[in-house]
Amino acid sequence: MLLARDAVHERDVRVPRQEEAEALFEIGRMQADMDVGMMRADALDQPGRQRRRQGVLARQHDEVSGQPRAAPEIVPKLPQPGGERGDPVPVVGGGGPQLHGLAGPVEQLDPQMALDGLDAAGEGRGAQVPPLGRFGKGAGVHHRQDVLEPFKTHASPTSCDSRKLHSDLCDWHAGGQGIKRDPASQKEPSMHLARFPRVSLAHLPTPLERLDRLSRELGGPEIWIKRDDCTGLSTGGNKTRKLEFLMAEAQAQGADLVMTQGATQSNHARQTAAAAARLGMACHLLLEDRTASKDPNYRGNGNVLLDLLHGATTEERPSGLDMNAELESAASAERARGRTVYAIPGGGSNPTGALGYVNCALELVSQANDRGLVIDRLVTATGSAGTQAGLVVGLKALNSGIPCLGFGVRAPRPKQEEMVFALAQRTAEKLGCPGVVSRGDVVADTDYVGPGYGLPREDTIEAIRMFAELEGILLDPVYSGKGAAGLIDYCRKGRFAKGERIVFLHTGGAAALFGYDVVLRRPPEILAAE
Ligand SMILES: Cc1ncc(COP(=O)(O)O)c(C=O)c1O
Repeated sequence: MLLARDAVHERDVRVPRQEEAEALFEIGRMQADMDVGMMRADALDQPGRQRRRQGVLARQHDEVSGQPRAAPEIVPKLPQPGGERGDPVPVVGGGGPQLHGLAGPVEQLDPQMALDGLDAAGEGRGAQVPPLGRFGKGAGVHHRQDVLEPFKTHASPTSCDSRKLHSDLCDWHAGGQGIKRDPASQKEPSMHLARFPRVSLAHLPTPLERLDRLSRELGGPEIWIKRDDCTGLSTGGNKTRKLEFLMAEAQAQGADLVMTQGATQSNHARQTAAAAARLGMACHLLLEDRTASKDPNYRGNGNVLLDLLHGATTEERPSGLDMNAELESAASAERARGRTVYAIPGGGSNPTGALGYVNCALELVSQANDRGLVIDRLVTATGSAGTQAGLVVGLKALNSGIPCLGFGVRAPRPKQEEMVFALAQRTAEKLGCPGVVSRGDVVADTDYVGPGYGLPREDTIEAIRMFAELEGILLDPVYSGKGAAGLIDYCRKGRFAKGERIVFLHTGGAAALFGYDVVLRRPPEILAAE
């Protein structure tokens, strides 16, 4: 193995020597060819097969830095439990893992922090909407030339070989560092998500699209977007994927009441309410007043309105409480009344929910491989940690070589990274690949939080306007707007190399825009002066 430097992740990455890379590439190709669907598709789509192979080989050297790349891509075809959209998905997987949690404590992942109040005093400062087209009309985006290399063809291995290939990949990840794999996990390939109970809620796969106008405007990397704002379920967002696994557990436990907690404008609460409605369960939400905003739209519009439309009941809590403890005590009270309660921790962030983002990693790598698209980095907003944790586990377990950068929305960096790493470790254990994620794989930049959770800053609003005006895409002021502000700033400061292909995971949240109309209507010069 060789070492190369990743500037954003500030780490040395292990890269295979040429002969090791070729061997791993062979393994990846064979694993991909295992999938009957892909073999069929390949038979019909020789040009697509050629592009995929070109993408994999092009990855072995970075054209910008000249450094060898982190790892060759492995191209397993995505398993979509239940097959095509709409097919029934078994609620409890045969031979699946034990279920826990009916009476167990709610997980503590998101400790409270004191937050400043939202400045709603901008009312009356004018409702002037900034002029359209402020971000200019540039020339076309330049694309890198992928290296064209000839390819050998491979015979498909037997199903027995599949386990051996998976084992080889895990051993390669362990890098001879003595990571012990659970003997039980060696019996099951770690990315075999169909082993887990899951209910079909999401519109998958979500689109992967190139943002030409934004890329041109920023003049640096090629920016792509993974549209998890289009997952469906009450305007969509990242919680749909998590809820597929969480709500299947709720069903398996015979729950008649689902309870969760979040901020007043919580997207997680709104999507949980929608999932419960869809599955015929009652839903009760504890909503924490984290911003102290008195704006009637913040308090009653946006996600709050949708919670009510989905038939959920809500209860307010003041800021600063341990909300997961509040949830557990409210759930206990309902259990004492005879309800069968399934309590979901804030953000749906536990190992079960994080499986949704392991699945997203699978989906993304498969899309990239199908198109011959070399992804250099994935960036996302990170809050209660489940999204980034699941992504990091999935990307590592797949040996994708794609680092994931989180832009924090609440906690300071050390705490955020610890939360993500701790959850990633637990998710990897659940998945059957303990030790696949190391501490250095988890990077969160929290410089774009601004004044606090739920309090957008000037750069948040600018990011929302840029995506809206240049790409017709709606972000939100609490999560995706802050993630995009980080992305934009990194591009402007040259922290991503020119030509790098960055995928921004759009985690949704646009329903909250209607709770923030006052600040969104403020002209940029007033925002800048604040
Ligand atoms: C729109 C949106 N984006 C991103 C996040 C952050 O995801 P996670 O809490 O899994 O870190 C959330 C969490 O609530 C969200 O609602």
